[in-house]
Amino acid sequence: MADAMIWSIGGYAPPHIITNDMLSERMDTNDDWIQTRTGIRERRSAGDDETTASVSSKAAQAALDAADFKANNLDWVVVCTDTPEMWSPATACFVQESIGAQRASAIDLTGGCAGFLQTLQIMSPLAAAGKRLLVIGTELLTHALNWNDRSTAVLFGDGAGAFLLGPSDSGPKGIRVGPGLSQSDGSQSTILGKPYGGTRHPITAKVVEKEETHTIHMEGPKVFKHAVALMSDIGRRVLKEAALNLEQIDWVVPHQANQRIIDAVTRQIGISSSRVFSHVAHFANTGSASIGLAMSDMLEQKLVKPGQRLLSVAFGAGFSWASQLFFVDEVPPSQFIHSTLRA
Ligand code: ACO
Repeated sequence: MADAMIWSIGGYAPPHIITNDMLSERMDTNDDWIQTRTGIRERRSAGDDETTASVSSKAAQAALDAADFKANNLDWVVVCTDTPEMWSPATACFVQESIGAQRASAIDLTGGCAGFLQTLQIMSPLAAAGKRLLVIGTELLTHALNWNDRSTAVLFGDGAGAFLLGPSDSGPKGIRVGPGLSQSDGSQSTILGKPYGGTRHPITAKVVEKEETHTIHMEGPKVFKHAVALMSDIGRRVLKEAALNLEQIDWVVPHQANQRIIDAVTRQIGISSSRVFSHVAHFANTGSASIGLAMSDMLEQKLVKPGQRLLSVAFGAGFSWASQLFFVDEVPPSQFIHSTLRA
């Protein structure tokens, strides 16, 4: 039976950089606190002329161009995001139009920071069955932050990562999507999220006056504890199901939440930090975009080689958490657009 194959990867990080020092001019924080607690030095922020659809389209086009694949051959365009273009229609419809995927069906999925791996697990059987898909994880989280809440405002960034997927038994070789697992615990849904704007807490004039109510809310220490325990556990479970051990894994690709979480997961899983990818110092936590951006960067840095096995783990709002194995048959073409506006 065929698997889903990643034929190419595209990444886009907006050119505007917000450094920790820039944040300290805006709120009571400093570079030392942020770096010590999170490992984050800077993050990218979408400009006023950018939206979730335009950022998604840039990553999508990067993946298409890398593979020299025509958008009108796509069957599906899927965007995973917690910061959509608008309530309705789906962000994916705007992306479909902008990249020219005339024949494709377009839909959004939302799953917090684990959403990209969950989306991949939902859509991979379609790719294995012969469909050609773009799965894009995108977040404009700097547009959803309460800039008066220093405990959340320093953590997040913007970007998008896109996988072009097709069947492993026809078309080019690339990275095979292996076994994966995901799980949720809705009893923890109030600990992390953006609660206002939906039907439970509609935006009213009163809500708009209180800035903190329509931005991200997070109980940081609780998130930290659950993130470490549940990412480590689900990573181990996926390895067990695939009858693999850690020595057979070349790279762990964790959700880029923050360096302390990544380090704690590294210790709990019991793998050397030299085999755990992190670029959180430069891009911060980009939510649904995080795994796609990380893999795009790994390909650009030529860290991925044929024959390698990658284990990805992610955790986020819901709570939802997921783990996914990737098997590198060939290194697929990729394009990571991350030019900066600073010298
Ligand atoms: N600058 C300076 N001081 C700050 C800042 C800041 N940016 N933010 C908080 N503080 C202060 C607090 O007010 C508190 O001060 P107090 O003791 O006078 O009350 C002090 O620092 C310590 O705050 P804590 O919350 O105890 O700090 P902690 O060591 O827990 O670190 C952090 C906070 C970094 C948020 C941590 O809890 C964490 O990493 N949580 C996970 C958060 C995360 O990554 N979420 C992303 C979404 S979920 C995901 O992707 C997995």
